[in-house]
Amino acid sequence: MEIKESSIEKFISENDIKEVENSILNGYDQLINGNGKGNDFLGWLHLWDSIDEKLIEDIVSQAEKIRKKAKVYVVIGIGGSYLGARAVIEALQNNFNFLQQKERLSPFIVYAGNTLSEDYISELLDILNNMDYCLCVISKSGTTTEPAIAFRILKEHLENKYGEKEAKERIIAITDKQKGALKLLANEKGYKTYIIEDNIGGRFSVLTPVGLLPIAVAGFDIRKLIFGARKMSKQLIGNRDISSNCALKYAAYRNILNNKGKEIEILVNYLPNLTFLSEWWKQLFGESCGKEGKGLFPASVSNTTDLHSMGQYIQEGKRIIFETIISVENAKNKVNIPYDERDIDGLNYLHHFSINQINHKAMQGTLMAHIDGGVPQIVLSIEKLDEENIGELIYFFFFSCAISGYAMGINPFDQPGVEAYKKNMFHLLGK
Ligand code: PA5
Repeated sequence: MEIKESSIEKFISENDIKEVENSILNGYDQLINGNGKGNDFLGWLHLWDSIDEKLIEDIVSQAEKIRKKAKVYVVIGIGGSYLGARAVIEALQNNFNFLQQKERLSPFIVYAGNTLSEDYISELLDILNNMDYCLCVISKSGTTTEPAIAFRILKEHLENKYGEKEAKERIIAITDKQKGALKLLANEKGYKTYIIEDNIGGRFSVLTPVGLLPIAVAGFDIRKLIFGARKMSKQLIGNRDISSNCALKYAAYRNILNNKGKEIEILVNYLPNLTFLSEWWKQLFGESCGKEGKGLFPASVSNTTDLHSMGQYIQEGKRIIFETIISVENAKNKVNIPYDERDIDGLNYLHHFSINQINHKAMQGTLMAHIDGGVPQIVLSIEKLDEENIGELIYFFFFSCAISGYAMGINPFDQPGVEAYKKNMFHLLGK
């Protein structure tokens, strides 16, 4: 992964970087020395201490068993216990996975416990009546309402369908090592369990069993994912130079643009597979940096689709936006525009381009237009969508998010604000 420089030069000078340099390097020191706020949540930084080969082997072998048994894998969880797995799976899987019925090697991955929609759970139960399935329930606290409700309903369904003994074999719980209702239940029922370490918060947990088990069940290579993350960690840890450490640079650019009055950062993709990576990124940056009256509002668009909707606002609306673009250089497949003798639609001039090349021209054209329109652009370029590149990107975002937060003087690892709605909801429900 690399940051392409030319698009940002018009908006950020050497002097701007000098102005934030101290705060960024101070953030880096706090992170690396482990003496900043929330320093009991730095387990992701040296993840390899807790994710060893033995654990990976165990996850891979559990995933193999599930892949043989289940046509559908229901992953129950919300927020950090949901978005990471979905982001990676959707980035890597076939866009029409949901229509591939015949000769499937991997179960359909479906998600529950991430909504209180009654119709969603009812319609899921209808589907599960007729399909073999297994469950994965993920909750670090073990007490979050949405997944707890979904698990209670689905556990009952599974037990009615297969009997209690077989149902037990079809459930894996991923939770705290000792506390929470889910841990109690898992102990009592004897479910296979994976631990979420105390020092890893939900939004930093995709490279732990929280993300790795569903990703492996979906058929992707979790070793390569971790290899990518580790590779990125080697580039970032130990490099205290903003000009060559891409995560420090990204954090610096974000904070400079924020100081210059930009309030909204839009993560832009040009591939529909990346829609959930944006959802994951929004949680990571929103929950980590949006506090104490500070922080950029993280938003996202999927182009070129959204150029036909949000494009107008970004080009000409309030000048409080900058964009971070994920540019994936190569497509997995090649589709050319056929040559047509009559050329009624006037598309013969595109005959020599692949769709991916046209997509990149759309991206370059948009980039130029937005720069002209006063919207700074940070371009993150990756070679292709595979496990290694996604692993790199994830670790890059973890690192830069922590630095951005520390440089702003906040604790990037807590989320006191999410309790407010829960208090009201519990009161209204008479808990
Ligand atoms: O990042 C976070 O901390 C949150 O998004 C949590 O992951 C989310 O609220 C789910 O919590 P839990 O895993 O305890 O059910």
